[in-house]
Amino acid sequence: MFRVAIVCMSDKGSSGEREDLSTQVIERIVVENGYEVVKKILIPDEFGMIVESLKDICDKNIADLILTTGGTGFSKRDVTPEATEEVIEKRVPGIPEAIRNYSLTITKRAMLSRATAGIRKDTLIINMPGSPKAVDESLSYIISELKHGLEIMVGSAKDCAR
Ligand code: MTE
Repeated sequence: MFRVAIVCMSDKGSSGEREDLSTQVIERIVVENGYEVVKKILIPDEFGMIVESLKDICDKNIADLILTTGGTGFSKRDVTPEATEEVIEKRVPGIPEAIRNYSLTITKRAMLSRATAGIRKDTLIINMPGSPKAVDESLSYIISELKHGLEIMVGSAKDCAR
């Protein structure tokens, strides 16, 4: 069973001003798909804190998959993609491409998400947008293909034969 860490970036959420519904949506979807949630954190949109939190989970091998939510838009405080790119060793552009492709069929505003994805050590990090609706649409679309990628990443699958 793959382990998931959910990292929510939200100034309002971390100060208690807003309830973190997006984390609940992620948790529901991953659990329904046979993943184990091992960590949930809520941090403000601070570049340094995001970098340190992501590095800690990867370097201590706490989770196989980190799903972030929030901070992918255009506001001055949105720095999740930049912090993720600081941490990753390998880029995985296909996942955000797939999310945006599908999401554009729902709303043209999907073009406003700057989300990225990549691998550090044995952990895959994927950015999701911030709203519960956007998270639901994005994660429900990609979840079926993630296990195969994770199996290759950790070395339990050698090729893509189906
Ligand atoms: N993707 C999906 N599937 N559905 C949505 O409603 N909203 C978009 C986009 N991606 C949306 C979506 C909007 S309005 C924005 S501003 C960006 O995600 C960035 O969101 P964030 O700043 O909350 O991360």
